[in-house]
Amino acid sequence: MTKRVFVTRRFPGPGLSMLKGTCDVDLWPSDLPPTRAELLAKVDRIDGLLCLLTDTIDAEMLDAAGPQLRVISNYAVGFDNIDVALATARGIPVGNTPGVLTEATADFAFSLLMAAARRLGEGIDFARAGKWQTWSPGLLLGGDVHGATLGILGMGRIGQAMARRARGFEMQVLYCDPSHTRETIEGARSVAFKELLEQSDYLSVHTPLNAQTHHLFDGNAFQAMKSTAVLINTARGPIVDHGALHGALEAGQIAYAALDVTEPEPLPPTHPLFSLENCLILPHLGSATNTTRAKMGIMACENLLAGLQGNRLPNCVNPQLYDM
Ligand code: DGY
Repeated sequence: MTKRVFVTRRFPGPGLSMLKGTCDVDLWPSDLPPTRAELLAKVDRIDGLLCLLTDTIDAEMLDAAGPQLRVISNYAVGFDNIDVALATARGIPVGNTPGVLTEATADFAFSLLMAAARRLGEGIDFARAGKWQTWSPGLLLGGDVHGATLGILGMGRIGQAMARRARGFEMQVLYCDPSHTRETIEGARSVAFKELLEQSDYLSVHTPLNAQTHHLFDGNAFQAMKSTAVLINTARGPIVDHGALHGALEAGQIAYAALDVTEPEPLPPTHPLFSLENCLILPHLGSATNTTRAKMGIMACENLLAGLQGNRLPNCVNPQLYDM
């Protein structure tokens, strides 16, 4: 029987055409995600789900899908939107898209670092608003990037790509890897989280969101950081406590924050962080290049097709399923 799949959003590149003729595809037509109720209705009796980080896949969703669900393929490397433990307990493999977005995301994180250091957002607003009257020795002074200390939280693929970029700017690189999987990285020094906070001029977050990292950047963390420090987050919003961040930026406990991810997403325009000149907020664009998004689509469809055929997913976040 033809397998039924639900794809929760259109995406660029040839990925979706790989599904044609292989399964019965229900593709969500809008650029906005299905509501919770719409998603619950759409997953009814599907064999495969291709979802995005904006879709929460939990017990209620898996129950609504039914026991025939054979695969969940996430169009993202992060998978904190999915209850993977539960999917594993139910024998459902979960796929993700690692590797293909590493360089694009590190490029973007480094762009945010540079933009924050040299106050690009404020400069653009200043010029646009007609406030530029003359060249001025004290106008919008920023911090040096060259020779400064970059702290990296999470030394996986993207953290390492960030470190490579930093070496080009002759920065000192410190890192802390909460998962303790990376013991030595050439040209970078492993430190405890406390030292990372205390020593970093720029601190860039590249760790997954989980119980250990949720609100890791709280009031105490900001208190330990340099008053000149810049925080860059391109990982997941809830790693940073936004209330504490607002307090720290307002009180000058840290100098600047550049956030590509927020809690919640989208961050409402009325959120107090938007009123601060020393906070740059972007709409989750880390992997947003044409090639990267197309490659993510191909990988997500490869995972989906493998799961439908009962084959091992090429990129599986719960591979222990195959040893059971
Ligand atoms: C991911 O893949 O997890 C990013 O956040 C979006 O590209």
